[in-house]
Amino acid sequence: MSPHGSSSSPGLPLFVLSLLLLSPPGTLAGGDGRPPSKPIVTPISKDGSTSLYTIPVKGGAPLVLDLAGPLVWSPCQPGHRTVPCKSSVCTAANRNHPANCAYTGTGQPGSPDPTCACTAYPYNPASGQCGSGDLTIAPLSANATDGKNPLFPVSFSAYAACAPDGLLASLPSGAAGVAGLSRQPLSLPSQVASRLKVAKQFALCLPGGGQTGAAIFGGGPFELQAAPPMELAEDLRKNALPLLVNPKNGAYYFRVHGIAVNQAQVPVPGGAFDLDRRQGTGGVVFSTVTRFTTLRSDIFSPLINAFDAATSGIPRRKPMPPYDLCYEASAFSSTRVGPGVANIDLMLDGGRTWTLPGASSLVQVDERTLCFAFQSMGSESTVANSPAVIIGTHQMENNLVLFDLEKGTVGISGLLLGRRTTCGNFNFAMGSS
Ligand SMILES: *[C@@H]1O[C@H](CO)[C@@H](O)[C@H](O)[C@H]1NC(C)=O
Repeated sequence: MSPHGSSSSPGLPLFVLSLLLLSPPGTLAGGDGRPPSKPIVTPISKDGSTSLYTIPVKGGAPLVLDLAGPLVWSPCQPGHRTVPCKSSVCTAANRNHPANCAYTGTGQPGSPDPTCACTAYPYNPASGQCGSGDLTIAPLSANATDGKNPLFPVSFSAYAACAPDGLLASLPSGAAGVAGLSRQPLSLPSQVASRLKVAKQFALCLPGGGQTGAAIFGGGPFELQAAPPMELAEDLRKNALPLLVNPKNGAYYFRVHGIAVNQAQVPVPGGAFDLDRRQGTGGVVFSTVTRFTTLRSDIFSPLINAFDAATSGIPRRKPMPPYDLCYEASAFSSTRVGPGVANIDLMLDGGRTWTLPGASSLVQVDERTLCFAFQSMGSESTVANSPAVIIGTHQMENNLVLFDLEKGTVGISGLLLGRRTTCGNFNFAMGSS
């Protein structure tokens, strides 16, 4: 349930962080040998059986997106490179030790022994398992982009943790590991920024089933095909919201003031959405490894009651666990933004709202049945690091979400279907640079 278990650790002074990313040795080259300072684009696939998302950045092999993950990790070949324990990057790799993850006792950061190879502790967000392995330097690749098309291939190297093969359990078949996208220094967006000298931002457009979405790392425009083509990034930057920092992890939290159903505010206890920075609990956080937005029970109960009341005229079907509230699919009109139903609005800073229409609030469970696409955390809401609300991928799908790690902001487009496009409309045909 937590976006990421981690023990608390004192923050490193900023100057140490900026020294950390002194480039790993290895390839620097873009397609033609000059260091590219263009953002990179990669397709996003959705795995039908796990509902996880992957990007093929490890020489074509897919890594699972984990917004809260601090590291890039994958099993290694024998003879892989290692990183000295005394290096500052070893300290960075060990800053967010997964909760309940046993230390192996070797490769401790800071050891002055020159033969000591740094150990890192990769975490599988789908199974909750952790493992240990060498910190290594892995080759990654993607295409440079102008925000409209891929332009030319780019290879670069990044620090990554080796993982035992068994740690791949519960990931999509064929996945080679995980790409952590958090705010921490060894996440994929942080390393892309320092290696390719691009902006420390990324834009995520998660596709619905059967489509190919896109992620752009490094800033710049983000254009989707529509009539006419639509550039979305500039507007998102102008209307960005502040991210909140949880000192216990590197996940992406933002402020929510309330929830409304059909324009009427849902009665939740005061302060229900607040992030407790000292405990690292509460708050509203994005997750790419949680399918349906999951709410603490003191928020979930009034929300489902309000939605139930707002849809009282719609014929029901028997609840199909894990879904609590289901409807006769044929009873809804069909609109551009999904089944015609009362909107759910997240009330954000500055009077802004993130509207969740039918395509975001309901899920098709079978031919005849649509169900309410939110879940309760249950009563074990005191789990360490448990947020108040985990925004899941069903609600993020077909929204462009732009994270700026430098400024500490997030921009959310709202459901793109309302603008007659989808995350499946990035043009992956090669363009000319
Ligand atoms: C670059 O884009 C082309 C066209 O979409 C694709 O075939 C190729 O695999 C991409 N290369 C990398 C390194 O991602």
